[in-house]
Amino acid sequence: MEGWGGLTSGRDATQAEMAATVQSIRTAVRTHSTRFETSIPLIASENLLSPYAKELLVSDFHSRYAEGKPGERYYEGNEQVDEVERTCLALARRVFRCSFADVRPISGTVANLAVLKALAAPGDPVGTTRLADGAHISSASFGAFGLRGVKPVYYPWDPATMTIDPVGTCRVLREARPKLALFGLSLFLFPMPLREIAPTLEEIGALGWYDAAHVLGLVAGGEFQDPLREGMTVLSASTHKTLPGPQHGILLGETQDPAVVQKLESAAFPGVTSNHHLHTMAALAVALAEQVAFGAAYAHQTVANARALAEALHRRGFDVLAADLGFTRSHTLAVRMAKEGGGESAAKRLADAGLIANKNLLPGDASPKHPSGVRLGTPEVTRVGMTEPEMDRIAELFDDLLHKGRSTEVVRAGVAELKRDHTTIQYCFGAGEAAYRYYDLVGRDP
Ligand SMILES: Cc1ncc(COP(=O)(O)O)c(C=O)c1O
Repeated sequence: MEGWGGLTSGRDATQAEMAATVQSIRTAVRTHSTRFETSIPLIASENLLSPYAKELLVSDFHSRYAEGKPGERYYEGNEQVDEVERTCLALARRVFRCSFADVRPISGTVANLAVLKALAAPGDPVGTTRLADGAHISSASFGAFGLRGVKPVYYPWDPATMTIDPVGTCRVLREARPKLALFGLSLFLFPMPLREIAPTLEEIGALGWYDAAHVLGLVAGGEFQDPLREGMTVLSASTHKTLPGPQHGILLGETQDPAVVQKLESAAFPGVTSNHHLHTMAALAVALAEQVAFGAAYAHQTVANARALAEALHRRGFDVLAADLGFTRSHTLAVRMAKEGGGESAAKRLADAGLIANKNLLPGDASPKHPSGVRLGTPEVTRVGMTEPEMDRIAELFDDLLHKGRSTEVVRAGVAELKRDHTTIQYCFGAGEAAYRYYDLVGRDP
């Protein structure tokens, strides 16, 4: 029969069942898109793609393989892939002012695995921060560290400055003498004291490694510390948090040592990737070009919004961490929800009302199973054009829900009303396009 089965005999019961399944998947994703369009997403690790970057995700690059490096591939037909990848690498080196870039890791975790494979061996000590102090699960025995079989050497945390203690960290590094020392966090409020630690790294012959997954767009926009100028040799990251690119990973470096470059490259391929997801690589090239054109203004407003939201919540009686330090210098703020019923309960109630955030362990939490806090981030609300007055309104909605006992429905309506004027994408080419649009490519149901 025409239309459904192509060369096969027609639509049998199995095809009809699977068509219904495909339709239900499409419906769920459409529902999700509408839900986010009418919500206020405050997850610190999420962001929205520009329309020109998004377009490439459904391009023919998705269907291809390009193992190896531009000009040195194992497959034919890669001329345009090479062209785009060379552009992507040149943009990465330009944006981060560095000599080395590799855009083959397909996520932040994969980039971390590449660094561990390149620069550490099983059994080696590797410096890092504790999970409870904000480190990513890459540092855990059940994450990338465990997979590579390296032993974490933990830096001491200083609650007064809300970062690692530089003197204690240097002491720990001198004692353990790791060859690799990781910095960077998932709950990342303040820059780390890299300049104070760099001389000790040199003294013990350790390489500094910075996981910039969260703050990559802020580093690029000049709004956070610049790790490659503060003693770090290699930087790994995801490319879809404060850098509003596709789900992908990146390695960057500033080193004169060809052996380090060679080890990182062969860890990226064939170490932790075979093909490297060419459609997302192309989208990353667009995101990096947009970073050059719009990134500084976006990063600036993202941090300004985080501070404004923190201040507005604090004024309304929320226990926002680091009040005496100005709350945050990044895109993230952390709120201890002890009197609001704990992190898990608060995050759930907020999400029901359309304020989407995540429960989070906070420094000092006794049990990893019961995070006392909620982590909030401003990358997405900034990307849809919100500024300080909207941050105040968001804080008011938090207050209404968690302190004043307004119903979920009433707060949900307030959230939708606030979001109504902020559903288009900003700080990119094609600004003004619908940010949450579902692209119906076929134009009819299966
Ligand atoms: C510091 C840090 N590193 C790495 C990652 C992992 O990135 P991805 O999700 O791209 O694998 C995250 C994710 O949230 C992170 O916060």
